[in-house]
Amino acid sequence: MHRILAALLFGLTLHADEVRIEKLLREMTLQEKLGQLSMYAADQRDLKAALEKGLVGSVLNTSHDRQTNELQRAQLAGSKHRIPILFAYDVLHGYYTIFPIPLAVAATWDVEAAETVARISAREARGEGIRWTFAPMLDVSRDARWGRMAESSGEDPYLASEMAAAYVRGFQNNGLLACAKHFVAYGAAEGGRDYGHAEVTESTLRNVYLPPFRAAVDAGVATVMSAFNTVGDVPATANPKLLQDVLRREWGFNGLVVSDWAAVAELVNHGIAATPAEAAQKALAAGVDVDMWDGAFLTLQAGARVDEAVRRVLRAKFAAGLFDDPFVAESNIISRSSRDARRIAGQSIVLLKNEGALLPLPKSKKIYLAGAMAEGNRDMLGPWSAQGGTAVSIREGLHAAGAQLVSRIDADVIVAVFGESREASGEAASRTSLDLPPEQQRELEALVETGKPVVLIVMSGRPLAVTWAAGHVPSIVQAWFLGTEGGNAVADVLFGDVNPSGKLPVSVPRAAAQAPVYYAHHPTGRPAGARFTNRYQDIPVGPLYPFGHGLSYTRFEYSDLRVHGNVVSALIRNAGPRAGVEVVQLYVRDVVASVSRPVKELKGFRRISLEPGESTRVEFTLTRRELEFWTNGAWVVEPGEFQVWIGPSSAEGLVTSVSSGNLQLRPSPEEMPRR
Ligand code: NOJ
Repeated sequence: MHRILAALLFGLTLHADEVRIEKLLREMTLQEKLGQLSMYAADQRDLKAALEKGLVGSVLNTSHDRQTNELQRAQLAGSKHRIPILFAYDVLHGYYTIFPIPLAVAATWDVEAAETVARISAREARGEGIRWTFAPMLDVSRDARWGRMAESSGEDPYLASEMAAAYVRGFQNNGLLACAKHFVAYGAAEGGRDYGHAEVTESTLRNVYLPPFRAAVDAGVATVMSAFNTVGDVPATANPKLLQDVLRREWGFNGLVVSDWAAVAELVNHGIAATPAEAAQKALAAGVDVDMWDGAFLTLQAGARVDEAVRRVLRAKFAAGLFDDPFVAESNIISRSSRDARRIAGQSIVLLKNEGALLPLPKSKKIYLAGAMAEGNRDMLGPWSAQGGTAVSIREGLHAAGAQLVSRIDADVIVAVFGESREASGEAASRTSLDLPPEQQRELEALVETGKPVVLIVMSGRPLAVTWAAGHVPSIVQAWFLGTEGGNAVADVLFGDVNPSGKLPVSVPRAAAQAPVYYAHHPTGRPAGARFTNRYQDIPVGPLYPFGHGLSYTRFEYSDLRVHGNVVSALIRNAGPRAGVEVVQLYVRDVVASVSRPVKELKGFRRISLEPGESTRVEFTLTRRELEFWTNGAWVVEPGEFQVWIGPSSAEGLVTSVSSGNLQLRPSPEEMPRR
């Protein structure tokens, strides 16, 4: 009864909003409408003049309650219709409390962790007047040369889709409109060069790059950002096929599309418009509603498409509650959620190698802590860290945990912290080398030469090609950029207070020249082997560490793979000495299809917790979603054999095969009527 009443009230409110929106549209001048379609940066020169006339639709990069309130007051005083500003910010993995970078959050394989990150970020940002975040970033990233891999959930569309939905829930259930970005195939930039051309087939778009966006739309994402790049011959920001046919018609998205920063005016550079005014017309006609920063939309002519875009902006403002409550309470209190930040940072850490069970370290061991990155607390925050301020460094974390930190000669073990600086990943941070910087490599080699056992901690926003280390260092820990509580989380793992459970959301290459490296590649007619095969002469063809890989201080055994109807299951046993968490992974291959299909694709995962000696049966149900792929304009499940793996990574596991003809397959969401 209550629910029916609530739905009724909600319906009535929505209706009342629509009536107000139509009234506003009738009364607004063209100039006022174009103001709504234009986003200003907080430090932009023409912002003040636009505010005086109440012509500001949205503003990005304000950071504090006083600033947002002040701008809001100016806008409301200038706006005849009292239309408030929508404040936007890149809140990707925290606002004051900085969580691990999204690539690291993906390494938790824990959708609840992603939801928690979004929830806490939303609350902190919202307290400062921000109502719209440019997140989650949903670009499937297979090329580690591309620095923005740091902001993504890695190389796999399935994992990225699960994370996408969790982020959207976390942001939007806590007062921030989310933005699925960058639509689309931005991560496919040629050569890994940021902003570059993406040459992708429709099949790759549909099967790889679009699914995380579809998951965000299905989770109710309010906004989508059009990307900088060209997709084939057509820039994503002037691409009606993607922005209208796919996003709106096929998927039923009725939220707002914002361009990326200056991406409208940059259509001139792409060579599809002679002037910014022509670029604006093309972007609007293609489906962009809001123009970020460049002011090109201020040149548009009146028309139905302008009204439609304004309608979407106003709806977003109603949804954000701005018409009722345009201001925020001002306070000087900054609270940080350290406990969640530490827990999730610990979960993000991936133990790549642990020869001779060197880790965890007993606290009685004397440690020589090496590497400049152990001291710094700036890098720990990652390339896009909002108002994060500072973080716990690894030295501080080890010290707080009671570590005995000594000089090199006294030490029992060396902990070396190396990697890349925060500026070396993120936007515009494409690189041709994935090696440790040469001076760090030399230092590492000198440390190994001492003969003392070395633990290498890698801090980075992308997988680094630590190939030499993999052959010479007994223990390697991938510690990403872990955020506010990073140093404490590293200490938790080094001393075994936290048993590592992270798994790689990207393959670790042996060398940058291998890029792109990803496990779900297509087969070749000549698999790597003898001379005339698909391989390199100088290095093995596969990754240094595969997607899904990650060790624990305990040992999990997989056995007794079974198929019962649609259910595939395996028994997982903790055969080691400690309680631990394992991420059990399901992979599928369509063995013979009408087109060539990837050698393996992730289709499910579960995080399970097991005490020593305990075992559990983990089940996955095969539905259309696990077996289908897009080809020739449709999602299909083709008859025939599928290989199915349950395992601890993309490179290991128990395998069986099933025939699609023997399964009960419900229609996929693709075939269900749209909302
Ligand atoms: C450009 C980036 O590509 C995008 O991700 C970000 O949201 C905007 N700048 C706004 O800062």
